[in-house]
Amino acid sequence: MRKCKIGIIGFGTVGKGVYRILKSKNDIHPILKDIEIVGIAVKNINKKRDIELENNLLINDPYKLIDDPNVDVIVEVIGGTDIAKDIILKSLRARKSVVTANKAVIARYGSEIYSEAAKYGVFVLTEAAVCGGIPIIEPLKRSLKSNQINKMVGIINGTTNFILTKMTNEKADYKETLKLAQKLGFAEFDPTADVEGHDTADKISILTELAFGGAVNRDSITTEGIEKINIKDIEYANKLGFEIKLLAFSERNHVNKEESLSLNIWVAPCLIPKSHPLSKVDGVNNAILIEASPLGEIMLYGPGAGSGPTAASVVSDILNLYASLSKNISSIDPLLAFNYWRDCHIIDFNQISKKNYLRIICSDTPGVIGKIGDLFGKNDVSIESIVQLDASKNKAEIVVITHEVSNGKFEKSKKEINRLSEVELIASQLSCI
Ligand SMILES: NC(=O)c1ccc[n+]([C@@H]2O[C@H](COP(=O)([O-])OP(=O)(O)OC[C@H]3O[C@@H](n4cnc5c(N)ncnc54)[C@H](OP(=O)(O)O)[C@@H]3O)[C@@H](O)[C@H]2O)c1
Repeated sequence: MRKCKIGIIGFGTVGKGVYRILKSKNDIHPILKDIEIVGIAVKNINKKRDIELENNLLINDPYKLIDDPNVDVIVEVIGGTDIAKDIILKSLRARKSVVTANKAVIARYGSEIYSEAAKYGVFVLTEAAVCGGIPIIEPLKRSLKSNQINKMVGIINGTTNFILTKMTNEKADYKETLKLAQKLGFAEFDPTADVEGHDTADKISILTELAFGGAVNRDSITTEGIEKINIKDIEYANKLGFEIKLLAFSERNHVNKEESLSLNIWVAPCLIPKSHPLSKVDGVNNAILIEASPLGEIMLYGPGAGSGPTAASVVSDILNLYASLSKNISSIDPLLAFNYWRDCHIIDFNQISKKNYLRIICSDTPGVIGKIGDLFGKNDVSIESIVQLDASKNKAEIVVITHEVSNGKFEKSKKEINRLSEVELIASQLSCI
C-alpha cells in the first residue's frame, strides 16, 4: 500500500496530540507508520512551541496544503467557524478527504459540507468533534446501524460537568468554580459557549443527524446553560435524591403525514435520580446513553476532551480513511460517508414534554401548598412531589417536581402560580428525567 499523506491545519492542543500519536512508539496498529505528514499549517509560525518537530514541517498558509497534489487528507484542527468552513469546503473541492474535530462548523454547516463531500466523492470524518476521545460518531454511523435509535441522553460538555460536580461535592460558588476551571485549563478564556449550553447543543445536533438520518436546524434547539444554577437548587436536589447535570436530550417522536420524523431535542440543566447511571458521571468526563431497538440501552463513557483523547479520535479517523482509500475502489463506502436519508423536524418548544423542578419562594402561610397544587391540577399538570424545604422570617421555600408534561401546560401553570398573592418569586426552574 502506498503511504497516506496528510496535511495538518492547526497545531494547538489537538494538533500537537495528533503529531505525538503519529510519532509514538506505543504498540499501535502497524498501518500507523504509513501515515506521512506533508506539512503543518499554523497562524503564527514564530510562536515558541513546547514540542520538538521533525524537519521544517511548519508553514503559515493552510491553502498550500490544500493545493498540494501530494496531500490525500486534510486534518482541520484550528477551531472557529468561518476560516475552518472555507478550509474544509476547499479541501473537499480539491478531492481531499477531511478529518475535523470542529463541532461548531459541523453543527452549523454539516448539510453543505456532507453534500460537497458526496459531490466530490470524498469523506469528511468527525469522530473528535463530539465527546473527544469517546468513540460515538463511527459507532452511530456503522456498528449501531442495524438498530433503530430511539433516544440519546448525554453529558457531553466537560467544562460544565466539572463546575457542577465541584458545586455539588464542595458546595462551591458558581463564579469561583468557573475561575478555577479556567485556571486548570478546563474552561476557555471566554466560557460562553460552554456555560450557556451552545457547545452541548452543537454536539447533540451532530449526533441527532447521524442517529436519525435527517438534517437538523441547529438554531431551533431549545438551549439553557448552567449560569443561573443556585447552590440551593443543588442542595435541595440532593436532599430529594437527585444530582444536577447539564444534559443533552434527543428523542424520536413520530413520523408525520409528510414522512418527516419529529424530534424532541433540548439542552438543559437537569435533575437526574441518583440511581441513574448518568448521575455518576463526574468531573470533566462525558457519557452518552443510547436507547435503541433491538439493542436496548448502552452507555459510552470516558474523557470528553484533552489533547491525547481527542487526538486519538482524529488519528482513528485518519486510519479509517487510509484503509478505505487504499482499497482503490471507485464507489464511496456508504457507511464511512454520511448522507441524509430522511426528513426531520424539531418539535416546537411548547410541545416538548418533560418533568420539571420548580423552587418557589412564598409567604409562610397555611394553605399555600394546596393553592399551588390546585393550579397545577387545573392545568392538567400532575405532581410527583411538593415539599416545603425551608422556612425562615415568615418565608417558605416550596419545591415542586412534576410528572412529564408539555412545556405549554407547565408554563401556563407557572404564570398563574406567579400571580398568587402568597408567591414572592419563582426562584428557579430546572428539567428532570
Ligand atoms: N482541546 C480539546 O480538548 C478539544 C476537544 C474536542 C474538540 N476540539 C476541537 O478541536 C479544534 C482545535 O482545538 P484546540 O484546542 O487544539 O485549539 P488551539 O489549542 O487553540 O489550537 C488552534 C491551532 O490552530 C492554529 N490556527 C488558528 N487559526 C489558524 C489559521 N487561520 N491558519 C492556520 N492555523 C490556524 C493555531 O495556530 P498558532 O499555534 O500559531 O496560534 C493553533 O495551532 C477546535 O475545533 C475544538 O473545538 C478540541
